[in-house]
Amino acid sequence: MKKKKNIMIISAVALLFVVGFLFLTKKTFTSNLKNFSETEVKWIQTLSKQDQEYFLKNKVLYPLIKQKSFQASKFSKYLNFYKKNETLEFDTLIMIVNHNLQDENIEITEQIMDFFEDKNFEPSRLKRYIAYKSENPSIDISKIISFVNQDIDTVTMKYDESIEEFFVSKYFIKENLSRYMKYQEEHNTKVNTTISYVNSNLDYDYYTNTKNADLKKDTLILVNKYYALDKDYEPDNMVKIEAKYGVQQYLQKEAYDAFKKMADDAKKEGLTLYITSPYRSYQTQNKLYNNYSAKDGKELADTYSARPGYSEHQTGLAADIVSGPGKSLASFENTKEFKWIKSHAHLYGFILRYPKGKEKLTGYQYEPWHYRYLGVDTASKIYSSGLTYEEYYAYYIK
Ligand code: DAL
Ligand code: ZN
Repeated sequence: MKKKKNIMIISAVALLFVVGFLFLTKKTFTSNLKNFSETEVKWIQTLSKQDQEYFLKNKVLYPLIKQKSFQASKFSKYLNFYKKNETLEFDTLIMIVNHNLQDENIEITEQIMDFFEDKNFEPSRLKRYIAYKSENPSIDISKIISFVNQDIDTVTMKYDESIEEFFVSKYFIKENLSRYMKYQEEHNTKVNTTISYVNSNLDYDYYTNTKNADLKKDTLILVNKYYALDKDYEPDNMVKIEAKYGVQQYLQKEAYDAFKKMADDAKKEGLTLYITSPYRSYQTQNKLYNNYSAKDGKELADTYSARPGYSEHQTGLAADIVSGPGKSLASFENTKEFKWIKSHAHLYGFILRYPKGKEKLTGYQYEPWHYRYLGVDTASKIYSSGLTYEEYYAYYIK
């Protein structure tokens, strides 16, 4: 009996403690509310009971809601993140949560707030900014951001002063950056030259690192010392050239129609444009090249004749043009016809494919007679830009 009484007393005391504790805590919470404005109190009262208690109990958290970028709707997320990162500055904590990066395992650095404040900051790249900065500590945050935004870090993690020069250069291609850097270092060329050369694959020796020409590019296909056609590739829409326009061989219809227009217009001015060599099969090119190299040696032959599979003539989109039947290629440069075609070819969709001064880029000596059909739009752009098709293709088409 006595035992029972004791238990009752103990229980009553315990209950009193619990009630008292709850009462006091509640009172503390309520009195803690005094630290806040009326609007803040109203807002605190909208929080879940759990968040409300946790917040009111932890006075260190009070400045959190006064932060510039604080968003009431993200309060629970701030709290959760805080619980895992109690030492984090509030402004940083808030920015991380505001950008939804709380689950990203971001390495907190001293400059992290500077990243957030930069006008070009992109949240999804934060980890990469931090990594790039740690590789290159002396570079400004804004530069780091601009480089990473341009994906430089995917090409090289090491900053080099030349990178900036490459970047502002007109025909810069991001994917080629490490090749530019290597070429520049080895050849000491000017930035623009490096870019032109590397875009045209000249950092590889001719006929090395070759790929299949991209047939899907249709009339814009590039065939040169780096892009080859199969032995049995033959264009499927070829037409036979009429005698008045050239030798009785073949050209793709679209190119031939354009040529006829050009030749007809030239004729109105008393000029004759005549095709001496249009489509050439792999086998024909093979014979030609073998003859030339037997006569002149491979090295010299390579300056004026394509190896089989690498000739544009195999596309059916290129033609050697002279000023009439029986006229030689060599004499074409000094004709009125050449003077005319030089400034008119693009209007019909043709370009002078191997220009003077661009021998290294195209891989061939100057050929005043060799024209390539690309369509009026592309031919005109090439004409006015002064680019070779190698350079144009790398930048605009590939
Ligand atoms: N003469 C040009 C380059 C060719 O052989 O295709
Ligand atoms: Zn030719």
